Amino acid sequence: MKTIDGRIELGGIPVERLAEKYGTPLYVYDEDTIVENYHRALAAFRKHYPRFRFFYAVKACNNPAIAAILVREGAGIDAASVNEIQLAKDLGLGGENVMFSGNFLSDEDIRKGLDSGVIFNLDDIATLRRVLQFGKPEIMSFRVNPGYGRSNVGEFVTNAGSNAKFGVHPDKVTEAYRLAKEAGISRFGVHMMPGSCITDAEYFPFVTGLLMDIIGKTGRELGIKFEFIDIGGGLGIPYKPGEEGLDLERAAQLTAQIFSQKSAEYGLESPLLMMEPARYFVGNAGWIIGKVHSIKDSYRKIVGTDVGMNTLCRPVMYGSYHHIYVNGKEDSPKEKLGLCGQLCENTDYWIKERELPSDIAEGDLIVIENAGAYGFAMSYQYNGRLRPAEVLVKKGKSWLIRKREAYEDMVANVKMPRHLKKS
Ligand code: LLP
Repeated sequence: MKTIDGRIELGGIPVERLAEKYGTPLYVYDEDTIVENYHRALAAFRKHYPRFRFFYAVKACNNPAIAAILVREGAGIDAASVNEIQLAKDLGLGGENVMFSGNFLSDEDIRKGLDSGVIFNLDDIATLRRVLQFGKPEIMSFRVNPGYGRSNVGEFVTNAGSNAKFGVHPDKVTEAYRLAKEAGISRFGVHMMPGSCITDAEYFPFVTGLLMDIIGKTGRELGIKFEFIDIGGGLGIPYKPGEEGLDLERAAQLTAQIFSQKSAEYGLESPLLMMEPARYFVGNAGWIIGKVHSIKDSYRKIVGTDVGMNTLCRPVMYGSYHHIYVNGKEDSPKEKLGLCGQLCENTDYWIKERELPSDIAEGDLIVIENAGAYGFAMSYQYNGRLRPAEVLVKKGKSWLIRKREAYEDMVANVKMPRHLKKS
């Protein structure tokens, strides 16, 4: 994002032009920012541990065009469902370039997961028993709950520890791999994903140490070789202006250090170190352009826009902060205002009070930052307010990468019983 004489540009294109061409609300992603984020992070980790690879957790922004950028740059795909495995396949990835990390899988998920031939990452022993009824994965891992997790998004996105639904309990990890080995599975890795959005560099080596101590003992006891060790996503980004970001270099250096040290200690032969971030790659590469429709004076002055909790649910769901710019008015005096979307729900009054330009007016464009991760992917169609369009920008050019939904999309899967049909 750049501001020229107060006017905001995304990927070298004024937001007025994008709004005029594609309408609002609109998700906009900058290709160059995604590529830079990916390579900055890759270089940081490879510098300290060359056998390192990223998978992209496609759930955060599942537009295939966005995933295609990361795949082109060399990332594998972390898939949460069989549909995300299919998305990876459509991008030309399969086998050991894709990891299936679902949880509480149905029989159909298991069957399709096995058929797909990708790395099968199991969330627990109970699932292993069910998988074995259908077949044996060529290569598999267990998701370990290392007993500790953390997140800048609070408990909401803390994915390990005693309150998390994910992963194998630390005391059951050896048992899990023993059962898999006894069943004749011979190729293994290990996985964890203890939290999302962490900007404290020390966290990464800390949880890596926990995991290594758990699986080091398992490896020794069972004589298992771990081909890869995936320490999850979680690389955080700052959301508030002035908030300190992650010291990536430090996180990478300390993580690689403890990883190498523990690998040597437990006799693990330089496994592939993997991570599967999403937010760090796409979070700050995405924005929402919205429009102010009307401004009302009530108990408070409320700015009514076309960006609601249906467009971006993070603020309402997690209390997350997303910074908002008003195009052309950033230098105006500020006033405490409320801001909402168009839904018939009061939770859609998603900013009760924020310093915004006091001359904000109907027709103004707002730009919401850091919307690339868990933005569109978590949007929904409530109230017939349909999902927005998505656009990719790069050096002054733009491409529509997902059409705005229309009424036909809202009713696409509907079947009307004959007795209710209008004759
Ligand atoms: N791997 C697995 C297995 C995951 O479940 C996730 C995210 C990731 C990787 C990527 O994590 P990241 O690098 O983005 O932290 N909706 C929440 C975040 C939920 C995270 C879900 N799992 C939010 O908007 O903050």
